[in-house]
Amino acid sequence: MTRITISQAAQHLGKPVEIAGWLYNLRSSGKICFPQIRDGSGIMQCVAVKAQLPEAVFDALKKLTQESSVIVRGKIRAEQRAPGGFEMDVEDAEVVQRVDEEKPYPVSLKEHGPDFLLDHRHLWIRSRKQHAVLHVRHEVIKAVRDYFDSNGFTLCDTPIFTPAACEGTTTVFEVDYFEDEKVYLTQSGQLYNEATAAAFGKVYTFGPAFRAEKSKTRRHLTEFWMVEPEMAYATLDDVKRVAEEMICFVVGRVLANRRAELAVLEREVTKLEAVKGPFPHISYDDAVKTLQKKGSNIQWGGDLGGTDETLLSENYDRPVMVDRYPAQIKAFYFQPDPVRPELALGVDVLAPEGYGEIIGGGQRIHDLALLEQRLEEHKLPREAFEWYLDLRRFGSVPHAGFGMGIERCVTWLCGIDHLRETIPFPRMLYRTRP
Ligand code: 4AD
Ligand code: MG
Repeated sequence: MTRITISQAAQHLGKPVEIAGWLYNLRSSGKICFPQIRDGSGIMQCVAVKAQLPEAVFDALKKLTQESSVIVRGKIRAEQRAPGGFEMDVEDAEVVQRVDEEKPYPVSLKEHGPDFLLDHRHLWIRSRKQHAVLHVRHEVIKAVRDYFDSNGFTLCDTPIFTPAACEGTTTVFEVDYFEDEKVYLTQSGQLYNEATAAAFGKVYTFGPAFRAEKSKTRRHLTEFWMVEPEMAYATLDDVKRVAEEMICFVVGRVLANRRAELAVLEREVTKLEAVKGPFPHISYDDAVKTLQKKGSNIQWGGDLGGTDETLLSENYDRPVMVDRYPAQIKAFYFQPDPVRPELALGVDVLAPEGYGEIIGGGQRIHDLALLEQRLEEHKLPREAFEWYLDLRRFGSVPHAGFGMGIERCVTWLCGIDHLRETIPFPRMLYRTRP
């Protein structure tokens, strides 16, 4: 008997096959029962008729408890009314492990509170909506990699234990290393990308990043995944161009391959279909003016808060690029604007529909003396950055790059409220388990 996944059903119509999965839901009416089986690739409605099955098999199916593991065998036919469009007429079944009804599966199909669900995250990920979100996540990651791999970028992994903070000392996790040495969990692979970009020209890193953010918002995790490209001989304009191209590519892939998941999430796909270049560009100066008109109390020189980002991105039907922030609110490494040096040659990309920042990046300082000065101004330990300064001593060139938070991007594409559902096991201020 051929074992198939539910997603392959269409290719096996009328032939005897088996599906190995778990009981998702069950309806039963005396002489017939309809177990819905999920196998990770989809959900199959099965039809078990008492008169056509050995008594033990029918009884076992009829009394099956939610999330019991089970293998069903039978023939598949098209059935428009069934979820997924197919149904299996069961000829045989084998229960692998039956969930005890005295201790039933906790994440029943009724509504549960967010804390309960997060405590049961290890089981919650089996639910349809969560499953759909994580499928979109996979698609986004695959698309991001495909984009860079097919555009001349070399993957260069960057370390997680690092000797220095990249994005400010206030949000860095310190770790005890051996023999009294302290290291930090990486906030970003950028500094290492700058080294590998000088070796390979165009590079990217994709991995976890850590931020000791004390903020309890819908947009912050303490551990998140970030893709970071970096290009030698490149400027802020290159960052904008690549960011726009990459976003359009990723959105296109999700629309092409994950329609079913977007439907489960009741995502308005027309909103995603509108995501086409060219994206609007505005300066930080103009962003502040727009926000003030919209009632924000932001002053020039202040960072855009989450609410500001939402207010601003509501104005557009596609991502908006905000550039040239005041240098004082940005990290130490930003190249200053040649005309107005108080501004940083950086850009944030804000997702539409109020989702806020998904990308941050820009052009890096390539001048040794200026970089040395910035390290001092930011009170960063010079010795930890000696190797980084070498990059300005040996063939320094203008270079630029950016980082996109995968969870921020997936939250937007899925149209959901909270970042925590876009990663299998979220880490937040008050949550480190399961
Ligand atoms: O804007 P950020 O801090 O930029 C950097 O880390 C640069 N070094 C990247 C680079 O140029 N190579 O972070 C980049 C992105 C943000 O736009 C956001 O999408 C995501 O990383 N991000 C977070 N996502 C989830 N939780 C957090 N606490 C995040 N902090 C940043
Ligand atoms: Mg940022």
